[in-house]
Amino acid sequence: GNTPERSGLIVADGTSVDEPIPGAPGPVTHGIPVVGASFADGALLARAGSTAYVQVLPAETRTDYNVIAELPGKNTDNVVMAGAHLDSVVEGPGINDNGSGSAALLETALMMANLNPENTLRFAWWAGEEQGLVGSADYVAGLSEAERDRIALYMNYDMVGSPNYIFMVYDADESTFEAPVPVPAGSEAIEDVYEAYYTKIGEPYEDTEFSGRSDYEAFILAGIPSSGLFTGAEEIKTPEQERIWGGEAGEQFDPCYHEACDTLGNVDLHALEVNSDLIAFAMLTFAYSTDSVNG
Ligand code: PHE
Ligand code: ZN
Ligand code: ZN
Ligand code: ZN
Repeated sequence: GNTPERSGLIVADGTSVDEPIPGAPGPVTHGIPVVGASFADGALLARAGSTAYVQVLPAETRTDYNVIAELPGKNTDNVVMAGAHLDSVVEGPGINDNGSGSAALLETALMMANLNPENTLRFAWWAGEEQGLVGSADYVAGLSEAERDRIALYMNYDMVGSPNYIFMVYDADESTFEAPVPVPAGSEAIEDVYEAYYTKIGEPYEDTEFSGRSDYEAFILAGIPSSGLFTGAEEIKTPEQERIWGGEAGEQFDPCYHEACDTLGNVDLHALEVNSDLIAFAMLTFAYSTDSVNG
């Protein structure tokens, strides 16, 4: 695809360079190679002495929106929150990353619409995760201290149906991974709910670190207990993991991670089903009590 951030002009060998051609008409702010031009056209346009250039507009600023849905419980001062990012990278449709988490969370929200829970349930579909966790960071930054204090916990769902999956749970035990940010007390009680569920249904799981790469980051920085599910992105499955979960050792957990091939075919439906059930199970568990997390 195009790389609009990069400036470049066609030169005679068909490659591009970053410097504008001296004397080219008008300012060359951002240029890209001619896309779709035949080699002959490109060679002609790039011939020595040519003043041809391609101008593309600079990066735009756009407004984007988080989608937040809330089901009030009997107690509106104790909010159980779960989120999934709704955006994808520009390179592809983002079905595993993160249609999977978004769809699973939507299904949970729909199924709970007629519930009369003890606690308040809040669902978030984040904007701009791929631009640097923009939506979730903006959301947390916009909360008053009182609003932050009402959030009992946050659960994150980003890539929950990877085609070469393993089941992973964000790990609250800082001795396992050197967490870049302290993981708030209470987070291990969320991790326990996921792990007890996987154990009960006979699915293996392993811990994964809070690497700062998804929307839980603003919540843990704000001291809100957090965890979540993940089935793997660009990392390579080991032979040991292949023995446990099947799939293909030596391949990425998601071979189409951030690529155009992250389409509807790029989801393991067993992983998505297991995790969709677990996302609902965890929400339902905390809908009635968050005592294990907040004491
Ligand atoms: N947040 C990453 C993305 O959307 C995926 C990811 C999640 C990577 C969790 C590592 C850990 O591309
Ligand atoms: Zn992504
Ligand atoms: Zn993602
Ligand atoms: Zn664990």
